[in-house]
Amino acid sequence: MPMDPSQWIDVVEDKFKYKLDHFVIPGHYSEDVESILIPHGLIMDRIAKLAQIITSEYDNERVVVCCVLKGGHQFFSDLVNYMKKALNKQGKTLPMTLDFVRVKSYENDKSSGQVHISMTDKELQELKGKNLLLVEDIIDTGKTMQKLLETLSKYELKSVKVASLLVKKTPLSCGYIPDYVGFAVPDLFVVGYCLDYNDIFRDLDHICAISDVGKSKYAV
Ligand code: HPA
Ligand code: MG
Repeated sequence: MPMDPSQWIDVVEDKFKYKLDHFVIPGHYSEDVESILIPHGLIMDRIAKLAQIITSEYDNERVVVCCVLKGGHQFFSDLVNYMKKALNKQGKTLPMTLDFVRVKSYENDKSSGQVHISMTDKELQELKGKNLLLVEDIIDTGKTMQKLLETLSKYELKSVKVASLLVKKTPLSCGYIPDYVGFAVPDLFVVGYCLDYNDIFRDLDHICAISDVGKSKYAV
């Protein structure tokens, strides 16, 4: 059963904007981020709970947990670590196979409209009959995930679910809602905890709002 949106944590803009000097951030980003939206400790505590919820909805069958690269890798590794200790519907640990798919659609802070998926037809065919859990960092407009799911729908998987650490509350949303969500974030470009802006900011632990200085400094 997909999570009810009332179970997401809503990062309300003003209430949850921490100043940069409230937490430790790398000195090289001191001018490049505006505020801290989700401190690293809160991210980790939320992932521990998501891991419990997700695992408890599976039976004893093996699940292919697939990281959507590059942004999803930090969430993926922390989520899988917590899922190893969580229990499924039968009160047992869940057998998991780990896989990776590279999907790219963003340049600067805009979706390019084109989605590139790295899996070959042969790799996709090997998913037939399997349970797939896609692990994504953020659902923004939702178009990237919609495209990926549309591609996967041709390969007769047993089940496909999506866990996204973040969903953005944007009027540009195509309406797609993932099965599991950590936090709903305001309509700002967010970076850190592996979310990037042109591959920058993956080395920042907290999820932050990028500043105008950061946007122009790292534009391509
Ligand atoms: N930050 C980083 N990557 C993204 C975002 C964002 O706000 N939206 C879509 N990809
Ligand atoms: Mg992503």
